Amino acid sequence: MLKKLNLLLILSFLTFSALFAQKRIGTETDAQKEKRMEWWQNDRFGMFIHWGLYSGAARHEWVKHNEKITNEGYQKYFDQFNPDLFDPQKWAKEAKAAGMKYAVLTTKHHEGFCLFDSKYTDYKAPNTQAKRDLVREYVNAFRAQGLKVGFYYSLLDWHHPDYTIDDIHPQSPKDKSDANYARINKGRDMAKYRQYMRNQITELLTNYGKIDILWLDFSFPQKDGHGKGREDWGSVELLKLIRKLQPGIIVDNRLNLEEYKDGADFVTPEQVSTAELAKYRGQTWETCQTFSGSWGYYRDENTWKTHRQLLDLLITSVSNGGNLILNVGPTARGEFDSRATHALDSLSHWMHANSNSIYNCTYAPDTYKIPEGEKLTYNKTTKRLYVQLYNYPANGKLVLSGYGGKIKYAQFLNDHSELLYKPAADNTGDLILTLPEKKPDYEIPVVELTLE
Ligand code: GLC
Repeated sequence: MLKKLNLLLILSFLTFSALFAQKRIGTETDAQKEKRMEWWQNDRFGMFIHWGLYSGAARHEWVKHNEKITNEGYQKYFDQFNPDLFDPQKWAKEAKAAGMKYAVLTTKHHEGFCLFDSKYTDYKAPNTQAKRDLVREYVNAFRAQGLKVGFYYSLLDWHHPDYTIDDIHPQSPKDKSDANYARINKGRDMAKYRQYMRNQITELLTNYGKIDILWLDFSFPQKDGHGKGREDWGSVELLKLIRKLQPGIIVDNRLNLEEYKDGADFVTPEQVSTAELAKYRGQTWETCQTFSGSWGYYRDENTWKTHRQLLDLLITSVSNGGNLILNVGPTARGEFDSRATHALDSLSHWMHANSNSIYNCTYAPDTYKIPEGEKLTYNKTTKRLYVQLYNYPANGKLVLSGYGGKIKYAQFLNDHSELLYKPAADNTGDLILTLPEKKPDYEIPVVELTLE
């Protein structure tokens, strides 16, 4: 017994010192961080928007890499760029209707093109036929709809002359020896590129008012030095700058600052399956997902997720305590195409009636058994438990195993119509809830249980 206690003491001391010893960049306390992250963790659902010159190529936002296109070869997309149907008010209204509470727009993607008016480059929207700062219009429109506003900014830059060629640059050589890299990178200077990034991020975080989220993308450190990571970006200094300019901002985890306790605000499982989301429970996380596979507009991609799959992503995220940011890739003309609009419309139908089972919700306490084949979300403030009916019971009976004495009322969430229930005949502590034969007009209807 004494031995056990000693071991326990030693173990807790070790964990404590490990936590304590973990490096920090700033001085924020855990409680302050929780407060800063509160709105984001309650809102749960956001819109990602990938829009750039690649939208014109319409065959993946990595087209420059995939087809090894040079700056000269890519110039035609700049010359052609003419978003004559760009109407960010419409985007913002669609996002809001779908129940999304925040948005993140690519101000610059890996191709290097800037949708905003930057002093530090000519490679920007105001110099195209658009003739204006498109980021400003996005910010104004989304704010006007009451949505929180975020910026995505690519750390990679396949256009900038000082950005060194690495293993995933479009001009990455066949001969990957150090000597060859040194040769082709002669004259390129990452220190200058670092400064360029700092300048642009400063512009983005100074000229557009309060910015709620910064989504920096991404790091790929490699032992052989032909990748990029925190030293290349100057990540520590960059994060300090970001926090100084926008103290309330929420920053993702792609700066390669894993060794710091406060090197990121949330983790970003990208395009993972719903089955994988359970393992992020307990962390602060947001899964980013596409409608069809690529992030940028891809005309010929026919792998669009169904309404049910999209709902499943949203519900499963919340039922594991995380967020979903769902991406739209507008066309080069600046519109959501009909496939995207249709997907958003279906989500808005569901969210209109069922969003109370999403906002401010998380996973249910273990004391509530998940009915076979269904999922649970839970609002701990209002003490409501939501049964997401993935499989609508054919016999009209939903068995709530072990729920006896734990609930005081049951209703459908969509119309607040009462659902009657009674203890199971065998007195096992189970409840049997009676559902109408006809499933309500929602792909996944929701039962709301008011807890004792
Ligand atoms: C990836 C891709 C990119 C996309 C991003 C979104 O890192 O490079 O195209 O913008 O993920 O999560």
